[in-house]
Amino acid sequence: MSERRRDPAKKSWAEPWKVKMVEPARQLAPELLRERIRDAGYNTFLLRSEDVYIDLLTDSGASAMSDYQWAGLMLGDEAYAGSRNFYHLEANVQKFYGYTYVVPTHQGRGAEHLVSKVYIKKGDFVPGNMYFTTTRIHQELAGGTFVDVIVDEASDPQSLHPFKGNVDLQKLEDLLKKKGQNCIPYVSLAATVNMAGGQPVSMQNAREIRALCDRYGVPVLLDATRAVENAYFIQQRETGYGEKKVADILREFCSYTDGAWMSAKKDSLVNIGGWLALNDAEKFGEAQNLVVVYEGLHTYGGLAGRDMEAMARGIEESVEEDHIRARVGQVEYLGQKLLGWDVPIVLPVGGHAVFLDAKRFYPHIPQERFPAQTLAAEIYREAGVRTMERGILSAGRDPQTGLNRFPGLELVRAALPRRVYTQAHMDVATEAIEEVHWNRARARGLRMVYEPKYLRFFQARFEPV
Ligand code: F0G
Repeated sequence: MSERRRDPAKKSWAEPWKVKMVEPARQLAPELLRERIRDAGYNTFLLRSEDVYIDLLTDSGASAMSDYQWAGLMLGDEAYAGSRNFYHLEANVQKFYGYTYVVPTHQGRGAEHLVSKVYIKKGDFVPGNMYFTTTRIHQELAGGTFVDVIVDEASDPQSLHPFKGNVDLQKLEDLLKKKGQNCIPYVSLAATVNMAGGQPVSMQNAREIRALCDRYGVPVLLDATRAVENAYFIQQRETGYGEKKVADILREFCSYTDGAWMSAKKDSLVNIGGWLALNDAEKFGEAQNLVVVYEGLHTYGGLAGRDMEAMARGIEESVEEDHIRARVGQVEYLGQKLLGWDVPIVLPVGGHAVFLDAKRFYPHIPQERFPAQTLAAEIYREAGVRTMERGILSAGRDPQTGLNRFPGLELVRAALPRRVYTQAHMDVATEAIEEVHWNRARARGLRMVYEPKYLRFFQARFEPV
């Protein structure tokens, strides 16, 4: 008998870790689920975590740290100034991302605040590949106006474009010509693009943005929050990168930019932390000065020494090939499973989350009645699975006119924390969403009864229509 060998491409894979410690999670009875979501004003941000069974609210700060990271916590150097953990973090940002100067911040928006203050003046325009909530509000608070220059495919949930996060170079050049480089402090490039569905930017696009911006003398700054996931997509999808290491792809990608801000709560596998990194010595000097005002001394930026150590170690783990493959692979598994049940989702499946297309899910609910918010509430009520709205509520109001923005995408995000849930959790979540889909005609939408001024999606309250 000849020896049998399975095709390596068809072999199953499993997570490159095993569980060492567990945290109980329970599913409430149906009547309690109904009560809890009503008490939370139909806003999943206002639920207590204890009342959530499978928490797909965000991949931010909710990942599981490794034993290597936990061991690092014990090596925290809690000196006010010059903690050795800062130098470890600085060295790893330099090594893996390639930037020269590093300022630690308590999380991503701390870095967004600093970078916006350092670069933007009143009346500026900031082009970027789709807005992100916290990024844009800091740009606006600093006096800037965000201008979306993402490719049109990004707003089409069914387009199979492999790099839906790309910048449309024509839109960018038109803006550079129309406003002049003096009013454009930098290009705000995010990779991957969260609000488009976790969609990547290609290496070629990054190279072309660099070349265009060089002609106009405008810097390119990167939101590096999920740049490792972006590098993985480049490896999987872009010609010439299939044999390259994710770590090398990340370095090359960053080399086309002049600096980056980071929410380390995502790619870098920590519960808290972030940084701003710049190659421009003068701008760095300003940021290093401002961090003292808003976050803490420039060698801790609002973090404990142990947090910086966990972050330094998380960066190393984040670019390991088997880690990133399993991470994005789990998201793909959930996406394919939902597709199998004909649940409308954004394609291709993104890097950190599966995005449900609420416009197609609830075609009978107009956008003013918050179809995505309704869907997130229904999914919780079905099985205690928590997701989040990414549609008209998240888009907020235009600061000039005060009117609601009506985004092209009306989505619900099921984001996967890293290394936290198993395939069985994905199966249960899928069944819950499928059940809600089956009963979709019964949903009526929501009315907002409390609306906070800033980032309203976090604290808004609703009643059923
Ligand atoms: N940039 C991107 C692309 C993000 O996704 C986030 C956070 C930030 C910046 C801000 O970082 O939260 O550390 O202050 N996204 C979270 C999410 C909130 O759920 O997607 P932060």
